[in-house]
Amino acid sequence: DDSKNTHKKIPLHTVEGIPIPTSFFTPEKLQSAISYKATPEDVFIVTYPKCGTTWMQYIVWEIINEGAPLPSFDDMNVKYVPFLELTGREIAETMKPPKLFKVHLPYHLTPHHPEAKYIFVARNPFDCCVSFYNHTKKIKNCYHFEDGTFDDFFECFIRGEVHYGDFFDHLLSWWPHRQDPNVLFTTYEEMKSNPENAVTNVAKFLGNDYWEKLKDDKDLVDKILENTDFNNMKEKLQYNIGQDGDNDQKVEFFRKGQVGEWKENFSDEQYRRLKKHMMQKTEGTDIPKLWKD
Ligand code: A3P
Repeated sequence: DDSKNTHKKIPLHTVEGIPIPTSFFTPEKLQSAISYKATPEDVFIVTYPKCGTTWMQYIVWEIINEGAPLPSFDDMNVKYVPFLELTGREIAETMKPPKLFKVHLPYHLTPHHPEAKYIFVARNPFDCCVSFYNHTKKIKNCYHFEDGTFDDFFECFIRGEVHYGDFFDHLLSWWPHRQDPNVLFTTYEEMKSNPENAVTNVAKFLGNDYWEKLKDDKDLVDKILENTDFNNMKEKLQYNIGQDGDNDQKVEFFRKGQVGEWKENFSDEQYRRLKKHMMQKTEGTDIPKLWKD
């Protein structure tokens, strides 16, 4: 049913098995990220793109920094919780523990240390696809997909012809490790349905130093929840990465922040096809149950 292959494509090349855009991201930085030697003091936030990475970056940062005012999006991604495939591993040398990193890498390419911590956020593939479409379309100088339609992107997504490849390959690589003692596995939907639980679970996972500070301090928890609330982040933060030359070109990163918005974008046929792809890819696992309501 997906025989037509005439959709607009995203210019990508494959490096270390990962499809990356032919501009903005480089093979050297990706290789540098992969070759980073993890330490027991590291915390990695791991996601497939558009699954709640930024939200989790700010939650972790807010817990560690006790509800301080939000740093800018750029500082977050290049300084505080650097996006390792974009910055390369050298950044780690200038950081103080706990060293926080964002990666979109599959399990086998993620820098590993048995005592490092890994926070994995999954999101339902339907909302992820819509979010990823908007992201890919808007960041013109990286993806060159400004003329692409949702239908074009859907064909790319279901074929894994997008930045970081197939959604399910990425998720499946982490799935067997979801209960490892140094892995916290959660979903965007879980975070949305109970943000307070998300904050307390992350604080517990980060260790007693953080949990002790937070557990009897309702004001601190409230402050963190207020700061990391979608509307507050949307209001306070600007997304500048990937802007093209003309400065008025603001990229709306904090777009909708909802669960189930895909219904406004998918045709019935697209829903059936992605569902079928999911069932095939995840056969023998409980992955589809993550998103049963
Ligand atoms: P939408 O495009 O559906 O709005 P990532 O950070 O992995 O790129 O994920 C981006 C998605 O997370 C976007 O989804 C964005 O709006 C959403 N998001 C960012 N901050 C959020 C927050 N504080 N609460 C809920 N959703 C958030």
